[in-house]
This record gives sequence, structure tokens and C-alpha cells, in this order.
Amino acid sequence: MEVEQTAIGYDELAHWWGERHRDSGYGVKQLERAISFSLEQGKALDVGCGSSGRFMRVLKEKGFDVEGMDCSEEMLKLAENELFDCRYFQGDIANCQLDNGYAFISAWDSTFHLPLVGQEPALKSMCSALVEGGILIYTFGGVSEEGEISGGFEGQDFEYSSLGLTKNLELITQFGCECIHLEFDQGPGEGHVYLIARKR
Ligand SMILES: C[S@@+](CC[C@H](N)C(=O)[O-])C[C@H]1O[C@@H](n2cnc3c(N)ncnc32)[C@H](O)[C@@H]1O
Repeated sequence: MEVEQTAIGYDELAHWWGERHRDSGYGVKQLERAISFSLEQGKALDVGCGSSGRFMRVLKEKGFDVEGMDCSEEMLKLAENELFDCRYFQGDIANCQLDNGYAFISAWDSTFHLPLVGQEPALKSMCSALVEGGILIYTFGGVSEEGEISGGFEGQDFEYSSLGLTKNLELITQFGCECIHLEFDQGPGEGHVYLIARKR
């Protein structure tokens, strides 16, 4: 699926997402765990920030200078209404040149929508944009073999892919980071993994 299709699906869901997730604690403990590894409160970027501003709000409260990126224009518009004093930009994380100098990058349940070919460029882009000691937290499917699947969500069709556990670990190492925490946070049967990495 092209990123434009993913963006159209999330444009449709933007209002629902914002209302449903504004006060959601989903992933927030994991985000706070990642923040606890951070040595400095510099620039932070939330990749695939969605419309609720929920991760960006936590990062702001912790003292970061926060930016949000998303491929969906509607998601970004609503996020800006929630938190107006942040920088927002539209883009595809697999096809963009991020600024350097981020102390913290989160990508919670966003890069899992990339096609397989987009996974490596997205990881490279995020790892490269971190300062030394910078922290990345992202989620992916904790499968053994790489693969792509389709699935419906709230009436929209989406695609998902994962390079699998070993390849994710290999790539973040190749791109200058080390894994400092990896967890099947929804239980071993669910396959949902979050990984925290630190830039060497
Ligand atoms: C499942 S939602 C998660 C939103 C937010 N991270 C949260 O946890 O509330 C996925 C988000 O990722 C965005 N997204 C999907 N593919 C993307 C891409 N290639 N580049 C940037 N954002 C993307 C979608 O538009 C959507 O806002």
C-alpha cells in the first residue's frame, strides 16, 4: 500500500482517533520508561503522532521541545488544535530527510504501516537523526520472519509489515544505536513489541 492510501485511511479516522485516544494511557508507561533513559531534554519528534497529541503532551511536560510528524493532513490539523505550541510537518518517514539533532524520537504504532521496503529507510532516518545518547522508542511486530499483512481497522483497510526481531536488532546496530529495552508488552501471544534504543 502506498503511503497516500494510509494517509487517506487516517484522514477518515482522524476525529475518531482524537476523541478516542486523547486520554488514553496506551503506550504511555512505555514512553515514560524510554524518557527515563534520556540524558537531556532537547528536541523530540513523535513520528506518526496522530491527532490526539497524547505522546507529544507527555514529552512537553517532561521539558522537551516537541515536534510531530504524520503522513495524514487531518491527523496533523487536529493535533495542532490540541497542542498549538509545537512544530508539525507532514511526511512519510520512509521517504524523508529528517533534521538532525533530536534527543528523543518516538514512533508508536506508526512504522508498522510501512511496506517491508520502507522499514529499513525509516529506521535509518530515525537513528541518524538522533544526537549521541539520544533515545528512540518504536513498536513493531515481534515475528521471527519478515512479512506483510492486510487488516481492517474501524472500517478502513490498512497494511502492516515487520522485518522481524533479529533484523530490527541488526539494523538499529548498523545505524549506530544499541537496544536497551525490548518487550512483548501485550503478552507473548500478541506479537506487539516495543523497543528502546540509544544512539552510541
Ligand atoms: C495507529 S496510529 C498511531 C497514532 C499515535 N502514534 C498514537 O499512538 O496515538 C498510526 C499513525 O501513523 C501515521 N502514519 C502511518 N504511516 C506513516 C508514514 N509512512 N509516515 C508518517 N506517519 C505515518 C498515521 O497517519 C497515523 O496517524
